[in-house]
Amino acid sequence: MLLGTQRVNDRNHLEIGGCDVVDLAAEFGTPLYVMDEQLMREKCRAYRSAFDAEYGGANIAYAGKAFITSAMCALVAQEGLWLDVASAGELYTAAHANYPADRLIFHGNFKTPDELDMAIQYGVKYVVLDSFEEIEALGATADDAGKVQEVLVRCNPGVDPHTHRLISTGQEDSKFGFNIKDGSAMRAVKMALATKGLKLAGLHCHLGSQLFDLTPYTEAAPVMTRFMRQIRDETGEELGVLDLGGGLGVRYLEEHNPPSIATFAKTVSEAVIAAAGDAEIAKPTLIVEPGRSIVGEAGTTIYSIGPIKEVSIPEAPGKRIYVAVDGGLSDNPRPALYDAVYSAIVANRAGDPPTKTYTISGRHCETDMLIPSVLLAEAKTGDLLAVQTTGAYNYAMASNYNEFARPAVVFVADGRADLVVRRETVEDMVRCDVLPERLS
Ligand code: LLP
Repeated sequence: MLLGTQRVNDRNHLEIGGCDVVDLAAEFGTPLYVMDEQLMREKCRAYRSAFDAEYGGANIAYAGKAFITSAMCALVAQEGLWLDVASAGELYTAAHANYPADRLIFHGNFKTPDELDMAIQYGVKYVVLDSFEEIEALGATADDAGKVQEVLVRCNPGVDPHTHRLISTGQEDSKFGFNIKDGSAMRAVKMALATKGLKLAGLHCHLGSQLFDLTPYTEAAPVMTRFMRQIRDETGEELGVLDLGGGLGVRYLEEHNPPSIATFAKTVSEAVIAAAGDAEIAKPTLIVEPGRSIVGEAGTTIYSIGPIKEVSIPEAPGKRIYVAVDGGLSDNPRPALYDAVYSAIVANRAGDPPTKTYTISGRHCETDMLIPSVLLAEAKTGDLLAVQTTGAYNYAMASNYNEFARPAVVFVADGRADLVVRRETVEDMVRCDVLPERLS
């Protein structure tokens, strides 16, 4: 499986964005996150043009939680997308890249008072309301600042997205949003309408992540538009904005076949247009918030292969070959958290036929299995392993567990590699430490 600009060059090495991965490893070290800039830009453009064609335009808000750095914010801004942020840190990163405030959406089920204040001061376009306490707090903060903050109410449409339970959010039993069915969402809408300092612009929902089946969107669209109609009937207020969140899945394995962005746009657009018609409300301004489907397939993690160990096991085939790589849980916690699956290639012999089954493990003091079973070309210590589709929620969820330094990130395009996040050093491991005098 080769993704985006990946190809095998005439040195039999994996190449991404016209850069030989072996050269990238020599220059930047390993583990290394390599991001295919052209593929990310293509995905941004695919979203915009597909929704232009199918809906007459929608606001595409890249979900920064999937992968956010200053360079990524700049890229997304250049591509004319909006950006969804979910913390003071993400907002700060956006501000650091001079992200236009009027294209920002601020999320979170518990935004702290400082975050609410920061969002108002920066002038983000929409704050997405997630609790009654927040409606009150945001209204008071905005009013004190002499401002009126535009808001969306996050609703829970009661739709099961059929994905891993830890990345399902649209079902009724969720910590996110206000339940439509039990009347909480209507109470939130009425409270937002009555709160000084707030201007209610529309509704939001997010169903789940890594979705291959688009049925949840076609189920959620009529729930949301019927609710918009009910709001108009009960309050006289016509809400103009409908944000359906993110969630489109990506290809981790060759056999994965997620819907294309074009199919996603067509399905969602048709569902919203039909549902608005049925509910007899005006076609809303549509927002979608893709994260994974913009960056997931664009990311590849390059590791150096260390010790290779053959161990006897009771189950067939009686042995397992552990290939240790110089990263693991700290740069990719997804296998441990979500049983996530990945594909890999021996990057310095990328064209060799895969002949052997390996187990890829990390080097943490932990059973950090990155890939339980993968067919690879014969692997040797000192080789480079490229793990694919690591662009979403890998760097973003990386930690310093075992005081491992987080890897560098490079953007590659047209044979050029730009460092966008430098590798942490051992000095960074004590960057925030304070050694009280009595202990030194
Ligand atoms: N909008 C909201 C409000 C969200 O909560 C999310 C993701 C998105 C948009 C973007 O969803 P995407 O298009 O990326 O599926 N750490 C997990 C994924 C958590 C997703 C959280 N919310 C993972 O590694 O699979």
